[in-house]
Amino acid sequence: MKRKPVIAIDGPAGSGKSTIAKLVASGMGFHYIDTGAMYRAVTLKALGEGTDRKNEAALSELAGRTKIDFVYGDRLKVFLDGAEVTDEIRLPEVSKASSDIADSRGVRAALVKKQQEMGKAGGVIMDGRDIGSMVFPDAEVKIYLDASVEERAERRFKELSGKGIKTGQEQVRKDIEERDRRDRERPFGALIKMNDAVTLDTTGLTIEQVAAKISGIIKGKL
Ligand code: DC
Repeated sequence: MKRKPVIAIDGPAGSGKSTIAKLVASGMGFHYIDTGAMYRAVTLKALGEGTDRKNEAALSELAGRTKIDFVYGDRLKVFLDGAEVTDEIRLPEVSKASSDIADSRGVRAALVKKQQEMGKAGGVIMDGRDIGSMVFPDAEVKIYLDASVEERAERRFKELSGKGIKTGQEQVRKDIEERDRRDRERPFGALIKMNDAVTLDTTGLTIEQVAAKISGIIKGKL
């Protein structure tokens, strides 16, 4: 039997992927899979265990004994080895350390395998950096979401402030620029625009406008 469609949304940090993917997924009755949350969960575990973030063997071993689950409800909840970590994985120190974890080939191999397993029946919208290139290169729809670095930093700053996380706007921008560089230069699983992806720049657009455009792209492709 042919699987249901897989929709891959890739793009840099703060481009609005998760907000949009969640909204469009609920409108279409699809499951939303936040692959960034999976890298964040492994990062949180590595920080908690004090794992050397440059030790490839230790990181691979850690990823191999990590269980990550999503629980769907009003809000997407993330569980790491059975304990809820939905809010903890968004802390700035986890965001920062996640670039090292995402560089690990062993971690990537383990997570890509899990993501392929989670999406194999289709009916999913998956967002990340390497979904259209590595996880589901045969995805029925591929979207590359982008936005100016200024706007992405502003969105992230507001999101963090709204959660009561204290940080400065300039610091958020610097962190985003550094994460962009790391995401684009990674030798394995780097963020790239695939030729068969539709690019959408969300600078200056509202969430509703972006969601409407994405729904239009998906309808046009399926
Ligand atoms: O999208 P995000 O900010 O939640 O991602 C967290 C980290 O994981 C970030 O450093 C990029 C990395 N990542 C990745 O390498 N590949 C993915 N498919 C998703 C995220």
